[in-house]
Amino acid sequence: MKFFIDTANLAQIKEAQDLGVLDGVTTNPSLMAKEGIKGQKNILKHYVDICKIVTGDVSAEVIATDFAGMVKEGEALAKLHKRIVVKIPMIKDGIKAIKYFSKKGIRTNCTLVFSAGQALLAAKAGASYVSPFIGRLDDVSTDGLRLIEDIRLIYDNYAYETEILAASVRHPMHIINCAQIGADVVTCPLSAITALLKHPLTDSGLAQFLADAKK
Ligand code: E4P
Repeated sequence: MKFFIDTANLAQIKEAQDLGVLDGVTTNPSLMAKEGIKGQKNILKHYVDICKIVTGDVSAEVIATDFAGMVKEGEALAKLHKRIVVKIPMIKDGIKAIKYFSKKGIRTNCTLVFSAGQALLAAKAGASYVSPFIGRLDDVSTDGLRLIEDIRLIYDNYAYETEILAASVRHPMHIINCAQIGADVVTCPLSAITALLKHPLTDSGLAQFLADAKK
């Protein structure tokens, strides 16, 4: 399973890259705003800065919600760097734009997916990735992991090549469960990845070994 980091923070992206387990980055307009990145020129430069740190795919989201606007923005984003994947919202014009980009060989990540039907449409349109937001479903008392299971079944039934990118992943159990179900990718904060390292028996065992080594 691939690990993507869900942030626009360059220091955290570098830390994750240095850990040696990072396969890519996802961003969204909220994450860019959180880093204080404003204005088209600065936003485009920030995407290039991210691409210079990582060796995997970097999702960059369009702001337009109409077909022509998404095509214009997406083409500009795709030209920035070979690792850019154009992130398109799951709306009617978004599906048209994903189909358009798919025909042109520009990779896409269909975002804001909350149902199996939406994921099926994204795959039919030729999305490279589909992003079901499991944490946001859990937030409204709906089983986010069940959605990953449903999409896995549907994609396997028809051998769709669209990768299931489990998004809105909030904690280490989400990551483990996604791996059990067979998600292709998880995207999450760095804290969820580093939390996988932790076990009290590792800490106490290491403390004991170091103490014994001094004897
Ligand atoms: C993914 O592409 C989204 O940017 C992200 O995972 C959303 O996560 P959140 O629900 O924690 O904001």
